[in-house]
Amino acid sequence: MRVDMQGKVAVVTGAAQGIGRAIAEALVENGALVTIADVQEEKGRATAEALGPDVQFQACDVSDQAQVRALFDAVIARHGRLDAAVNNAGINTGRPEERVTVDRYSDEIWHRIVDVDLHGTFYCCKAETAQMVKQGSGAIVNIASIAGVVPLRLQIGFVAAKAAVIRMTEAMAAELGPAGIRVNSVSPGSTLVQGTRQLFYSNKETAERLVSFIPQRRPGETNEIAAAVLFLLSDAGSYVNGHNLIVDGGWTCGFSRDF
Ligand SMILES: NC(=O)c1ccc[n+]([C@@H]2O[C@H](COP(=O)([O-])OP(=O)(O)OC[C@H]3O[C@@H](n4cnc5c(N)ncnc54)[C@H](O)[C@@H]3O)[C@@H](O)[C@H]2O)c1
Repeated sequence: MRVDMQGKVAVVTGAAQGIGRAIAEALVENGALVTIADVQEEKGRATAEALGPDVQFQACDVSDQAQVRALFDAVIARHGRLDAAVNNAGINTGRPEERVTVDRYSDEIWHRIVDVDLHGTFYCCKAETAQMVKQGSGAIVNIASIAGVVPLRLQIGFVAAKAAVIRMTEAMAAELGPAGIRVNSVSPGSTLVQGTRQLFYSNKETAERLVSFIPQRRPGETNEIAAAVLFLLSDAGSYVNGHNLIVDGGWTCGFSRDF
């Protein structure tokens, strides 16, 4: 996808790998100066190096507000502004035995997921908008999930956090539209990354069952999520504000409900 992000200062959290990496790559290919932030230091540095001289890495745990403040202070000290921000860092349960009904769902996992996926997004949005309000411009995309749109079973912490991210995005769009800032979210469906490959797509039977719920009969690729994010961040999406763009091959249309 080609849009004009020439010289735009951008930050992508959770970009050492997966969807975040694809977003950082799409931004840099379109001319942006990108800072990627992640808890994985070694991988984050290697990704920044692989993506070229316009990409910097900064270690940051988004669930720690002091680290989030330090990240954005460093970006603003380096570039003097912030044009685009993608709050992508997120976690979910990764093992089948953790995917259980609410009565058995771990308190510890609930708190960890809400800390990263919801509180982390809030801390980032707060730091980003503090600068964008001063500038009178900026665009933010929060990465949510179809789990925040429809009530998927056995993932109560993730469902709650992502639903809150979508509603928070709309509230911020309403608050900050008058200040020249657009805030949108992207909700991926099942997307091929290291974690989903291990959890779903390495087993033929599980993979077939999963894609049977997806009208396009395949998982998404990370660059397909990145294209949606790029649209919302760029001037191509200049009048889109407070929108949750679902990129799921049609999963949430309820295609499988043929009765
Ligand atoms: N892959 C999917 O099917 C899918 C579906 C719906 C939503 N999502 C969302 O997309 C986003 C990216 O996920 P992904 O699939 O690329 O997963 P991933 O695990 O491959 O990537 C997530 C990245 O976030 C980083 N991260 C984790 N905790 C962090 C923290 N506290 N601070 C900073 N960085 C942290 C990880 O180190 C990793 O690099 C997440 O918000 C996820 O919830 C993914």
